[in-house]
Amino acid sequence: MKKYNICIVGGGSRYTPDMLAMLCNQKERFPIKKLVLYDNEKERQEKVGKYAEILFREYYPEIEEIIYTTSMKEAFQDIDFALMQIRVGRLKMREMDEKIALKHGCLGQETCGAGGFAYGLRSIPAIIEIINVIRKYSPKCWILNYSNPAAIVAEATKRIFPNDYRIINICDMPIAILDVYAEVLGKKRKDLEPKYFGLNHFGWFTHIYDTKTGEDYLPKLRELLKTPIDVQTEPLFQEPSWSATFEFMSQMINDYDEYLPNTYLQYYLYPHKMLKKQNPEYTRANEVMDGNEKDTFQRLDAVLANGKLKGTEYDIDGSAGCHAEYIVDLATALANNTKEIFLIITKNNGTISNLDPEMMVEVPCRVGSNGVEPLSVGNIPTFYKGLLENQYAYESLTVDAYAEGSKAKALQALVLNRTVVNTNVAKELLEDLINANADYWPKMQ
Ligand code: G6P
Ligand code: MN
Repeated sequence: MKKYNICIVGGGSRYTPDMLAMLCNQKERFPIKKLVLYDNEKERQEKVGKYAEILFREYYPEIEEIIYTTSMKEAFQDIDFALMQIRVGRLKMREMDEKIALKHGCLGQETCGAGGFAYGLRSIPAIIEIINVIRKYSPKCWILNYSNPAAIVAEATKRIFPNDYRIINICDMPIAILDVYAEVLGKKRKDLEPKYFGLNHFGWFTHIYDTKTGEDYLPKLRELLKTPIDVQTEPLFQEPSWSATFEFMSQMINDYDEYLPNTYLQYYLYPHKMLKKQNPEYTRANEVMDGNEKDTFQRLDAVLANGKLKGTEYDIDGSAGCHAEYIVDLATALANNTKEIFLIITKNNGTISNLDPEMMVEVPCRVGSNGVEPLSVGNIPTFYKGLLENQYAYESLTVDAYAEGSKAKALQALVLNRTVVNTNVAKELLEDLINANADYWPKMQ
């Protein structure tokens, strides 16, 4: 079986340790020869790198090479898969995004609204630079990009690298939602085959088929989900903001008794209600900094101090990291031409027939060694069409604002966003965001 060289871009991230555990657990299906961790933050990269050495020594002794580095040139040589998960400006800038939006009475959120807009303008230049360097040293590697805000990033990569079918933009949210459906139905995610359409963090499930019998569980699920649920299987979703999100799903399904919405639609369909739930002094970025991020790095410190995981409370023992399994599923599909179906962000090209062919849509795609092949959706009803065209116009204008350094386009983008809307608010918000992002954004005039 071929062994692969893998590079995690954003190797110092709080998500990396679980991904590493997942790679260990999946080694039979997806063997690795070389593991590279790349990050531009030396200290964090070293910590995760040292953790990786201990982890792999214990669970993956057959690996030939582990590298952790802050040099792109060193990192990107001879890579088969780059798994890209960067957060430009880290959680500090996420906090700024969220708090600036809230200061202007708009929703403060990582990928939606003004927060996602600001984050998008930081992500685009960094991602373009990284992809260019990857392409210099590993022209044919698969780039699995799940850096946020994925919708805006995908629009930018489509424009800058239009013929590079080995760049694949994905998000874990539809998968996470499917896990929840599986839990509610008493099934496994792999028993379910979804039909879905939309943009990233802005889409709907239209059918949930049983992979074996073909039965559509959507009507049954819709009824079950009209009552608020309490997710058990995913520990992250026990956190107060995530459990509130899943609880709120019932409201959306009661109000729109048709398809099943991506949880992120709560921000666009109920912006005022969501705004009221937010604390301008303490946002989700603060929760993550004080919670998951802190816990993860404390765990790493403990493992580095112990010099081992096996026989300690940090033993990964088969279970850890299953959530990230779909990344390996996807990589395996690309490497082995399995033609399995995944939800991927890709160019519309007629897949949703009554929408712009240029749109970057999130739809089921067949995946094999020649890339992704979207499966036809057909026409969608007016309500969804209107929402999607409006949201895509916002995303597209955000990328225009980056490409042209245009404040006018930036303003148009913000006004189109359903969480901003008012021109006077958007103007003031934009000025604050420009100042806060001086180190990251292109000059705008
Ligand atoms: C989901 C989304 C990601 C997002 C993450 C935020 O996984 O798909 O796009 O970044 O949630 O979670 P957090 O816990 O950082 O708010
Ligand atoms: Mn996502």
